Amino acid sequence: MTEAAADIRADQLALHLGSQRFGRSYEAVAACGSTNDLAALRAREGAAEGLVVLADQQSSGRGQKGRRWVSSAGQNLTFSLLLRPPCPITALPPLTLLAGVAVARTLRALGIAPRLKWPNDVLVDQPAGPRKLVGILTEMATVGDRIKHVVVGIGLNVNQTRFDDEVAATATSLALLLGRPVDRAPLLAQLLGALEAVHDQALGANGQRGGEAVEAALAAWRDFAQLPRPCRVERPQGPLEGTAVDVDRDGALLVRDHSGGVQRVLSGEISPG
Ligand code: BTN
Repeated sequence: MTEAAADIRADQLALHLGSQRFGRSYEAVAACGSTNDLAALRAREGAAEGLVVLADQQSSGRGQKGRRWVSSAGQNLTFSLLLRPPCPITALPPLTLLAGVAVARTLRALGIAPRLKWPNDVLVDQPAGPRKLVGILTEMATVGDRIKHVVVGIGLNVNQTRFDDEVAATATSLALLLGRPVDRAPLLAQLLGALEAVHDQALGANGQRGGEAVEAALAAWRDFAQLPRPCRVERPQGPLEGTAVDVDRDGALLVRDHSGGVQRVLSGEISPG
């Protein structure tokens, strides 16, 4: 089953945990392929909402669009949170954006000024350009219109100060930004508290909320995203240039094109316009 114990132990996390459900069930491993896969396996085995699976090292950590997520062993936070929203897919709020809000609030409490980049990046603007601090990968298992489970995977660069060539020019970490190492157990606990708060705001603890509550949570996303922003979006159906003005309740990005029309973008890669 799991491998040797990892260095954020359950008892260390429990010392700091303020959340009621998220992280109360916790599995830490020294190494695995991807914590998203391990959390999905635990979901299929019947694990309850709130389970957190953390690995010190992933051999096949992944990001959006099949990209790799590489993280030095024992330096960062790489973990996945299991959710079981009892609503149909059509009523599901945009969980990746909401997770971004929770991450951004946690970083702001540390004195960082994060910016959320649609759909799943947490950046910090630096004199030489934006640097990525956190990536979020949300994956879902469904049957028809019913959600079996959702796994929210989060990779946060905490104490890593040197990065592989492929991301060296675009990545950063808390240690680099703050000029000091950061204790990961209290940080994880704070993050789980923020995730639970934004989740419960949008869905309610029993998953029955929606509508205005989701809008309120998305208002925070808009603030952190600093919209409107001139942008170019690479979409499957072709590039789009304009101004990113908003996100809608489904998490789609709304872009005003040069003719003044608003295009709804469901997936794509956004860059400064
Ligand atoms: C991205 O930036 O494209 C998303 C990166 C998400 C990385 C995290 S690390 C924990 C979890 N397990 C994975 O394999 N991926 C996510």
